[in-house]
Amino acid sequence: MYVCHCNVVTDRDILESIANGARCVADVARQTGAGRTCGNCISSLRDLVCQHCPVRAERAVERELGVAGAAR
Ligand code: FES
Repeated sequence: MYVCHCNVVTDRDILESIANGARCVADVARQTGAGRTCGNCISSLRDLVCQHCPVRAERAVERELGVAGAAR
């Protein structure tokens, strides 16, 4: 599915970018080119990063469990 029509970037491209180390919308934009033209796709990029970024997911679990920073 195309997420960024201007730059022809798909959800797979974005997930691959996250798998390759992208941790925020700016990282994804740098790696894929998404979001750099009209900006209409930024909220979709943000949603994908929030849903799939392993660091963000880990922090969400820590917040839910109330253990942020406990293991570090
Ligand atoms: S749809 Fe992504 S920059 Fe326009």
